[in-house]
Amino acid sequence: MRLSVIGCGYLGAVHAAAMASIGHEVIGIDVDSRKVESLSRGEAPFYEPHLQELLTAGVASGRLRFTTDVSEASGASVHFIGVGTPQQKDGSAADLTYVNAAVDALLPHLSAGDVVAGKSTVPVGTAAELAPRIEATGATLVWNPEFLREGWAVKDTIEPDRLVVGVGPSKSSATGEKTDPADVLREVYHPAIAKNTPFIVTDWATAELVKVAANAFLATKISFINAMAEIAEVTGADVTQLADAIGHDVRIGRRFLGAGIGFGGGCLPKDIRAFAARAEELGRGESVAFLREVDAINLRRRDRAVDLVAEAFDGSVFKKKITVLGAAFKPHSDDIRDSPGLDVAVRLHGLGASVTVTDPAAIRNARRLHPQLTYVEDRDEALRGADAVIVVTEWDEYRRQLAPEHAGNLATGRIIVDGRNCLDAGAWRAAGWAYFGMGRP
Ligand code: UGA
Repeated sequence: MRLSVIGCGYLGAVHAAAMASIGHEVIGIDVDSRKVESLSRGEAPFYEPHLQELLTAGVASGRLRFTTDVSEASGASVHFIGVGTPQQKDGSAADLTYVNAAVDALLPHLSAGDVVAGKSTVPVGTAAELAPRIEATGATLVWNPEFLREGWAVKDTIEPDRLVVGVGPSKSSATGEKTDPADVLREVYHPAIAKNTPFIVTDWATAELVKVAANAFLATKISFINAMAEIAEVTGADVTQLADAIGHDVRIGRRFLGAGIGFGGGCLPKDIRAFAARAEELGRGESVAFLREVDAINLRRRDRAVDLVAEAFDGSVFKKKITVLGAAFKPHSDDIRDSPGLDVAVRLHGLGASVTVTDPAAIRNARRLHPQLTYVEDRDEALRGADAVIVVTEWDEYRRQLAPEHAGNLATGRIIVDGRNCLDAGAWRAAGWAYFGMGRP
């Protein structure tokens, strides 16, 4: 099939490369000429495992191309919209500027019978608002949300755990006809369909809501366990044992019960805020009012991490040399958008500490945003002379591959704050470190 993908950021670039890898002919379109040039050379503009191989193979095969010229979309019959929907600068709602611009740019190049598939995360009601313009060209609009996780984006795109397609009112009764847009999407995702991946055909509003509801649930799960961490802190309980114990109940499950400095990234924080804002617009603000609390709990954990470091020094980090292990919002990513760890680093610096940050992938991005911090590529070099160490991203380099004895030989002080509860507290204490976890005695 011939596909176009409008927007070649995280979502679009991975989608384009993944679709080419399963045999489609794909044109990726973006307004950013530098990004297009890099992708055209087969180079990933961000760190994502396996993306590089897919891009190289796709570009070499001739099935994957990138351009800034949206008129090239006219050669495709299915058009994916994968542009960003960031948080508005002066509010908590989603900014739909890029979605609207992508649709406007695409309109003159649509033909009757084309399918436009929205993948961006949008406020419920967006598809219904965009549809008249798109359907006036004879094309059909579906909403096909994306559930990829950074670090697993390629796998999540090629082998998703479910596919959701929201179709408009006029099409929902057209099942069985060749022009059914859901069938077109079945054809696009043929390898996943062949593996019996659940394929849910629904209406636009449900499809839009599935996406934000999933992210709201995940964020709530993390904040739930972080709320338990707050209670553990005043009772002497251990939140990791608590999570293990409740996680054995299959109705609860252990995943996403990792207490620590909380969630960040380009999705969960902005999505829960946009969802709450949209619910208010709909007159149902109270239905998801708890998401404001989820957000507040999440942000409080950053304060707690800063306090833990300060408490280790009897209240003040002024002039203390603190090494921050991690900058990315999570491991296997160079993404620092709303990174809780980087926020903690910036706050410690603001309190007068001398902060050194290291990360296996995210230093370049972190330095661009926060040039006031000191960055050191080499982990051991970063640890040398530290008065205290704080782990903020649970990369294997820190979690598994850093022996407490070895770290102790490099650092000056033996204070370790485990912002992700990812270290073996017993082993660090046995090596003479004062270990402080989040919600752990
Ligand atoms: C999230 C969702 O997991 C994806 O399903 C969704 O498709 C994506 O957003 C999106 O909307 O595009 P992602 O932002 O890549 O994916 O990251 P997650 O793996 O969800 O992690 C988010 C944050 O939660 C990270 O900062 C992570 O460190 C934190 N986290 C995760 C915890 O603090 N505790 C946990 O137990 C799990």
